[in-house]
Amino acid sequence: MKIKDALYIARQNHNNSRGLLECEILLSYILKKDRIFLHTYSNFEITNSDFELLLTYIDKLNDNYPIEYITNKVSFYSQYFYIDENALIPRPETELLIDCTSKLIVQNNIKKIFEIGVGSGIVSIMLCLLHKDLEVIAIDKSNKALEVAKKNIQLKSVLDNSLKSRIRLIEGNLLDGINRSKSDFIVSNPPYIANSYKIPPNLKFEPREALFGGNKGDEILLDIIKLDAKYLCCEIGYNQEYLKDYLTKYDKVSFYKDYSNFVRGFVAQKF
Ligand SMILES: C[S@@+](CC[C@H](N)C(=O)[O-])C[C@H]1O[C@@H](n2cnc3c(N)ncnc32)[C@H](O)[C@@H]1O
Repeated sequence: MKIKDALYIARQNHNNSRGLLECEILLSYILKKDRIFLHTYSNFEITNSDFELLLTYIDKLNDNYPIEYITNKVSFYSQYFYIDENALIPRPETELLIDCTSKLIVQNNIKKIFEIGVGSGIVSIMLCLLHKDLEVIAIDKSNKALEVAKKNIQLKSVLDNSLKSRIRLIEGNLLDGINRSKSDFIVSNPPYIANSYKIPPNLKFEPREALFGGNKGDEILLDIIKLDAKYLCCEIGYNQEYLKDYLTKYDKVSFYKDYSNFVRGFVAQKF
């Protein structure tokens, strides 16, 4: 079957508006060619098994399975990262966390930070790529997520081969058992959804421990605030600005918003 016919049939089977784009991404992934190839060689014959695989993937998408988990690839902060079902798929709003944290790192000449809930590693890795002398102690309670972070550190070492020595991955809960000082800097995008919240169907394939923060949702965020770091940058849910009431020990607290004008995080600092 020709590429153009395979894409036409796949598109008919795909039930959402990003159909054609996703069909092309999947066929490029199956054929190990880029999307330009599909357009340039639209009469190229693909095998039956490649076509069957394309239709199998389309069925998965129709069941809300994320395309990123099929292709094991996700774009974040203009970089491609490895991703699989063991870690949360990085979200665009977390790029704002990188920007706010970066600013604080520069302003205060920070050389070492802790990341709680490293997941796929995107936050620690991006911060280390942006700040060449930064070291990160990156903790996650999921050893499977840590494996994804390890893969990404390996992958991005082609850009900076000091990443492996600057990011230390640790399996653990919060900062339990970790040596601390008065000037600690913590960054975190913790799980912050309430356990009872009815999540949209596409989230059901992501790790539960990356999404749900407890009965109210803010429990892990409150535990992180209680750690009383000197600098604290956190992503939060759009309805969690009330957390300012728990940040009274900080001299300066600012909340940042996403492009839809929802509050999505805060930066807190003691002088
Ligand atoms: C929302 S994901 C964030 C992943 C990644 N940092 C990002 O921004 O895409 C939260 C991560 O926190 C981890 N986590 C949840 N509770 C934790 C705890 N008590 N201590 C350490 N890590 C925790 C989860 O396993 C998950 O990988």
